Amino acid sequence: MAIQIIATGKYIPSKCVTNDDLSATIDTNDEWIRSHTGIGARHFAADDEATSDLAYKAALNALESLSPGQAAEAAKTIDLVIVTSSTPDYYSCPSTACIVQDKLGIPNAGAFDILAACTGFITALETAASMMANSGRKRALVIGADCLSRVTDWTDRATCVLFGDAAGAVILEKTEAPSTGEGRRGIIRTILGSDGSGADALICRRGGSRNPWKAGEIVEKPSHLEMDGRAVYTFAVKAITDTLQQLLEEEGLTMNEIKRIVPHQANLRIVQAAAKRLGVEESKFFMNIEKYANTSTATIPVALDEYAKSGELKKGDIIMTVGFGGGLTYGGNLIVW
Ligand code: ACO
Repeated sequence: MAIQIIATGKYIPSKCVTNDDLSATIDTNDEWIRSHTGIGARHFAADDEATSDLAYKAALNALESLSPGQAAEAAKTIDLVIVTSSTPDYYSCPSTACIVQDKLGIPNAGAFDILAACTGFITALETAASMMANSGRKRALVIGADCLSRVTDWTDRATCVLFGDAAGAVILEKTEAPSTGEGRRGIIRTILGSDGSGADALICRRGGSRNPWKAGEIVEKPSHLEMDGRAVYTFAVKAITDTLQQLLEEEGLTMNEIKRIVPHQANLRIVQAAAKRLGVEESKFFMNIEKYANTSTATIPVALDEYAKSGELKKGDIIMTVGFGGGLTYGGNLIVW
């Protein structure tokens, strides 16, 4: 029995903002942003779009890929919906997954959210795969969705140029394929880790139980992400190299046996530094940060969708995901396609 990704999907909001557009209102420029991050543009959700809307559209795109013209029917085969996001529709409750489940019209599917910042999708894949392996659940929707534009400090040029909004989704199925030995398929191994001592390095301080909004309070700045860029950079390069090496070691594989690596798209320079440390060609990493910037937990499923639909990813190929983010969290999946 294997837990396999049988379809992928994505949704990118239509509003595209280039580096030049940003530099019209913020003290920055295309050259700085490209050379420090690899980002050329980002997309922002419309005013009437929330994270569940992005997640729902990515889910529909995955269902449509699975059953062209019959997405609504295909939705009825899903018995678990997991959304991972750092920008849910509502803090506390309800979960964004419940809203997505309702939009999909599948009232009996289990639904819940996972918060592991930019490592969310890796965590959610492992959660869904473990749950499916140990139950009668046959199909799950795992969605990474974020509207970072809603928690961005537009007066802080060091962070506001980095982020965008998007959603990516995969459909997991429990199949008859083997999960070990010859011909194995699916989610083979996952590494998850965290270092909570770095919680302050990426943090949204307002709105939770530590620091709730108070009646009558005059709000000078909306809730926004604060980041210690240097600390995150150092953590990220080590997290990527250590996680990939650990996945290879534990599976007894070499990098040559890996077709591509799909990393969290936070900053091209982080990936370049990790590739150099690992002695791996940069082209081994599937990158699309130039088009979408850092969309947090959506980056990996969006990249997976683009990679899968490029036609380059073939049945039996071994790939790895790897990510890091607020928490500080990190992790990776080894997948046989
Ligand atoms: N445009 C122009 N200049 C800028 C900008 C900007 N947008 N932002 C900063 N600068 C300036 C600074 O003011 C500074 O100027 P100074 O030397 O005159 O003081 C100079 O550029 C260098 O600033 P640094 O902050 O030292 O720039 P650095 O080279 O460290 O790059 C960056 C900053 C890109 C944020 C880097 O630290 C980084 O990538 N960190 C990791 C960030 C990350 O991955 N975050 C996301 C992970 S979590 C998640 O995915 C949600």
